[in-house]
Amino acid sequence: MSKGKLEKFKEVTEFPNTLEYPDFQDEGSQKPRGRWHSDIFENHNPIVLELACGKGTYTLELARQNPEINFVGIDIKGGRIWKGAKKALEEGLENVRFLRIYIDHLDEYFGPDEVDDIWITFPDPYPRYSDRNKRLSGPKFLKIYQRVLKQGGAINFKTDSNELFTFTKESVRQSGCKVHDVVEEIYQERPDDELLTIQTYFERRHLEKGRTISFIKFSLPVAPITRELD
Ligand SMILES: C[S@@+](CC[C@H](N)C(=O)[O-])C[C@H]1O[C@@H](n2cnc3c(N)ncnc32)[C@H](O)[C@@H]1O
Repeated sequence: MSKGKLEKFKEVTEFPNTLEYPDFQDEGSQKPRGRWHSDIFENHNPIVLELACGKGTYTLELARQNPEINFVGIDIKGGRIWKGAKKALEEGLENVRFLRIYIDHLDEYFGPDEVDDIWITFPDPYPRYSDRNKRLSGPKFLKIYQRVLKQGGAINFKTDSNELFTFTKESVRQSGCKVHDVVEEIYQERPDDELLTIQTYFERRHLEKGRTISFIKFSLPVAPITRELD
């Protein structure tokens, strides 16, 4: 591991806009569940998450465009979060926080109805069948999102992977979600959409290789999702 990375790992633990819980079994640390409005943001503005945020490009741009909304970028990689958190501090973005956790434990860090909307940007596609339970749009994760997302809250999902997009559309359908929008090729169908054309680090790399970028927006059903993976 390079020295740079080690320094970033240390520095990110000291950033006032970053909460770190990489060891989810650490029972000693006080988690922010149920305290995001009162203690973390100290306002009652809506809370929007970016899951698998990496360097937090969406989190930062959405926060710049919407100062009346709170944004939390979530990822397990401290070195990537460092980049977004540092930029947020430099720009004085007070409506941004970063949270370093495994998304698998999201409901330990947010309470019921504490989240208004979710963005998932270029999650790892996990193409191997044996890894399909790690895909962030599979039923395991939709059930976790149901425990924190307000009724009717939207999940906005962007990917360059055709396989993951097909899997997601099927997962959404089988779980009884309501689909609000589907864009198979963003740069052909919506090239002027300011929201959908925010480009993350991974998106830029995919575009350089000529890959197709797709988007789906959906909300979760009222009834608890019970379905397991096929
Ligand atoms: C391909 S990168 C995309 C990063 C960023 N959204 C972008 O487009 O540049 C996927 C990210 O998801 C994170 N990730 C994958 N599974 C995760 C999980 N279960 N919990 C937390 N982070 C996860 C990885 O650490 C990685 O930073």
